[in-house]
Amino acid sequence: IKKAFIFDLDGVIVDTAKYHYLAWKKIADQLGIDFTHEHNELLKGVSRIRSLDIILDLGKIDATQEDKNKWLIQKNDDYLLYLVDMNQSEILPGVLPILKYLKEIKQPIALGSASKNARPILEKTDIISYFDAIVDGNDVTNAKPDPEVFLIAAQKLAISPENSIVFEDSIAGVQAANIGKMTSIGIGDPSTLYEAKYIFNDFTEITTQFVDTLIQEQS
Ligand code: BG6
Ligand code: MG
Repeated sequence: IKKAFIFDLDGVIVDTAKYHYLAWKKIADQLGIDFTHEHNELLKGVSRIRSLDIILDLGKIDATQEDKNKWLIQKNDDYLLYLVDMNQSEILPGVLPILKYLKEIKQPIALGSASKNARPILEKTDIISYFDAIVDGNDVTNAKPDPEVFLIAAQKLAISPENSIVFEDSIAGVQAANIGKMTSIGIGDPSTLYEAKYIFNDFTEITTQFVDTLIQEQS
C-alpha cells in the first residue's frame, strides 16, 4: 500500500518557528503590543498576512494597508536574515532518518507548508530531493486550518486524503489535516496539539515500526 506522507516545514522539519517568532516579536515590540509565546501558538501554521492581523488584533490596532504592507516586508526581511547561514545542521533531530526510510521503502513524500520561503529552506538544508511534491504558501489561497495545502499535496502524489498522513506542529495544521480527513500527527506539546490522532514530542520518538504501522493502518 502507498500512503502520502505530508510534512509541514516550519517547526517540523526545521526549527524556524523560533525565527518567525523573533521577527514578529520585533514588530510587536515596536507597536507596544504584548506578544508572548502563548500568543505565538496561534500564529504557527498561519499565513504571513493572517499572522500580522492576529498581532494587530491583540494590540487592538487598526492599521492602514500601507502600514501593514510595510510591516509585512519588515518581518520577512528580518526573518530572511536568520536563514542566511542555514544548513543541514538545522534539520530537527530524527527527521532525516524518517525521510531516508520513507525513500527506501518507496513511500511518496510531500511538503505542505504555508510558507512562501519553503523552497530556499529545503535547498539550503539539502533535502529538497526527498520530496515528490512541494506545496507551499505560493500555491494556496486558503490558509490552514483550511485543508487546501494538504489536499493539493495528496492530489499531486495521486493518493486519496484518507490514505494521507500529515506531520504538523501547529494547531491550525492539525485541524487542517483532520478537516481534510487525513491522519494527523502532532509534533510538539500534547496539551497544545491534543486534537491530533497521534502526538509525539519530537521526531526522535517516531520509529520505523510506527511508520510501518501507519502504512498498514486501515483508514
Ligand atoms: C508557516 C509558519 O509555516 O508559514 C508561520 O508556521 C508563517 O509562522 C507561515 O507565518 C508563512 O511563512 P512565510 O515564510 O511565508 O512568512
Ligand atoms: Mg509548522
